[in-house]
Amino acid sequence: MKEWIIPQDWHSYSEAEHAMWDTLFARQVALLSDRAAPAFLEGLEVLRMSKPGIPDFTELSQRLQAATGWSVVAVPGLIPEEVFFENLANRRFVAGRFIRKPEQIDYLEEPDVFHDVFGHAPLLVHPVFADYMQAYGRGGLRSMQYGSIRRLARLYWYTVEFGLIRDGAGLKLYGAGIASSASESRFALDSDSPNRLQFDLRRIMRTEYRIDDFQQNYFVIDSFEQLLRETLDTDFGPLYAELEALPDIGVGVILAGDRVLNRGTQSHAAGRRKS
Ligand SMILES: [Fe+2]
Repeated sequence: MKEWIIPQDWHSYSEAEHAMWDTLFARQVALLSDRAAPAFLEGLEVLRMSKPGIPDFTELSQRLQAATGWSVVAVPGLIPEEVFFENLANRRFVAGRFIRKPEQIDYLEEPDVFHDVFGHAPLLVHPVFADYMQAYGRGGLRSMQYGSIRRLARLYWYTVEFGLIRDGAGLKLYGAGIASSASESRFALDSDSPNRLQFDLRRIMRTEYRIDDFQQNYFVIDSFEQLLRETLDTDFGPLYAELEALPDIGVGVILAGDRVLNRGTQSHAAGRRKS
């Protein structure tokens, strides 16, 4: 199958583009020191390249290869789901090569190299999370046979992109969508608006999500081991069939069986609806 991989062409980035990376990097590192999971902060070291600016994927991949056998490859924007899964299943993380413009510093519709690399690469250094990402890719390829990509994608969304993890008595963030966003890295942990619910695979696969604003639910795992184990231990075929008969759960809704860590006020989402 075609893998859609293109050259990153690192030497074609402008000084302004490298400077944008450095600005975003410095801002997020300062913000995350007491918010990101320890494994994420440790993994950030992999991004401290021998040259400043946007990481050269060749050098980054050498470091990831040495740690967990992963690499980062450039692709042209959005790619078919099958290609995305196929790359993950082969321990290749696909990244956009473009970086946001100054006017997009706080909001971006399509993931850029800062989201993809700053957000995702640090945890690819963690052996268990690295295995989870590969397991997800393999599961993604299988989900296509069941016509259940939509359900499995929610697992990615609520873990890899927007996951929180227990850390002692508190919570830390590890999802790339949070970690690469200055505003959501505050909102996800500090705001009383969103629900924070205990991780529940079946529940997550029924839960809708927002792509245009902060999440209304965050799901909290105990450990990356839990995430990997539950993913490997689940027989997804029968589960997809079972979920087919159940209604989706709307964003922000709490069910009787949910293990609720914080019941959100949903004031942020309500404010938006009025405006
Ligand atoms: Fe992402």
